[in-house]
Amino acid sequence: MKFNMTPAATIIGSLVVFFTIVVMIVIFPAIEYRLRVQPSDIFRPRTAQMNRGRAIYIENGCQYCHSQYVRPQDGDYGQDRVAQAGDYFEDQPPLLGSERQGPDLSREGGLRSDGWHWAHFTNPRHTRPDSIMPPFHWLSVPDMEDLTAYVQGLGGTDADARVAQQHRWRDAAWEAYEAGPTANTEWLHAHVPSEWMEMANPYVADARSMDRGHFVYQHFCIGCHGPVGDGRGPGGLDILRRNEMLIAEPASGEYDFAPEAPPYNFTYLSSWDGPIGGMIYYQVMNGITGTSMPAFKTELESDMIWAVANYLAVNFVGRYGAGQSESEVFRGQLPRTIPPSSEPHLFTQTAPMPLPEVLAGASSAERRRAGPAGVPAPGGGDGR
Ligand code: HEC
Ligand code: HEC
Repeated sequence: MKFNMTPAATIIGSLVVFFTIVVMIVIFPAIEYRLRVQPSDIFRPRTAQMNRGRAIYIENGCQYCHSQYVRPQDGDYGQDRVAQAGDYFEDQPPLLGSERQGPDLSREGGLRSDGWHWAHFTNPRHTRPDSIMPPFHWLSVPDMEDLTAYVQGLGGTDADARVAQQHRWRDAAWEAYEAGPTANTEWLHAHVPSEWMEMANPYVADARSMDRGHFVYQHFCIGCHGPVGDGRGPGGLDILRRNEMLIAEPASGEYDFAPEAPPYNFTYLSSWDGPIGGMIYYQVMNGITGTSMPAFKTELESDMIWAVANYLAVNFVGRYGAGQSESEVFRGQLPRTIPPSSEPHLFTQTAPMPLPEVLAGASSAERRRAGPAGVPAPGGGDGR
């Protein structure tokens, strides 16, 4: 028999090949996945609110920067459970992501408090001054709640257990905060083991320790605890505003949102006379469950935590650890030896920067084009 390459044979032949490929690499794996993969041990269906939050997550392209899968080699980064196919049972499509500009979020649920997420979505630089994540303050309040519910649900039943723990401690911490500064400080310290409460800072508060403490404070703490340590940084204010809103008008009820103790005012510690280093170390290492205070043990090495403990004690509490006196700490050298120009701009700029003389008489449109520091962009445009 002779096979002729007629137009009909060519078209039908290529269609057969095309559909065979589609069945083999698209349809078959999808059916096979449905038949083979069972829900994993941590799987549970999402609530309606979490599904709405997931839609907001997709709309805003969160998956371009955040992955949702843990590989065996990610154990090095403190991840506790490797992803399994059954974790994604209900996901159409699974938001695996391929970039990790930000941390993997598949285990995010319950790691942080709802108030932390609120402040962070409002502006990530309020909780982490050098974050590159864009702000989402323009989302409506219900959208913020839905997005938070979704993120707090990542990690299935493990996340639910952690969120339940967060909520239990949140209510206790809020009650203590409402009881006033002295009772709150006592409550906080009652949960710190006594050996840590009685430990002085093993590192002398010398200029080097103060410099490192200053660095840590600027990059990790100032957003919440504020430039003068009174808990009124921009992230602290976000949490206070959220509390006011929740008290005036409680949340939708679909998810358990409630007010949270705002960031601590360190100056309250000046009326407390125990040794100071170990207590701060313990709180910074472990964080305070139920509040936005994060655990820093996976991010800051021990030396850095002792340094920031010295920095807090000397600058905000007026205390000099390791039995030193004020004059020994400040002998000839003020702690602020880091030039102000190297500090995150957001928190150091108290007044608008003066305009250079060339622009002093310019119109507002011309100034805007010139950018915040008054330096004209190359080519006269806005540089894009
Ligand atoms: C341009 C990349 C980028 C985009 C887009 C982005 N993020 Fe992020 N995200 C980051 C980076 C970087 C961090 C780490 C620094 C920080 O905490 O802000 C982060 C941190 C986070 C964290 C904290 C993780 C942790 O426990 O430390 C959460 C939660 C989060 N992002 C959620 C979101 C959500 C939800 C969206 C979409 C609405 C989003 N991100 C969009 C880059 C991004
Ligand atoms: C996202 C906000 C946030 C950030 C960032 C943050 N904190 Fe906190 N911090 C809190 C909150 C909230 C509390 C608990 C307040 C309460 O329950 O009254 C707290 C409590 C504390 C306490 C406990 C004080 C005591 O007497 O028990 C210490 C110490 C502390 N923070 C130090 C730090 C340091 C150091 C950093 C940076 C490395 C930091 N915090 C970053 C929000 C934050």
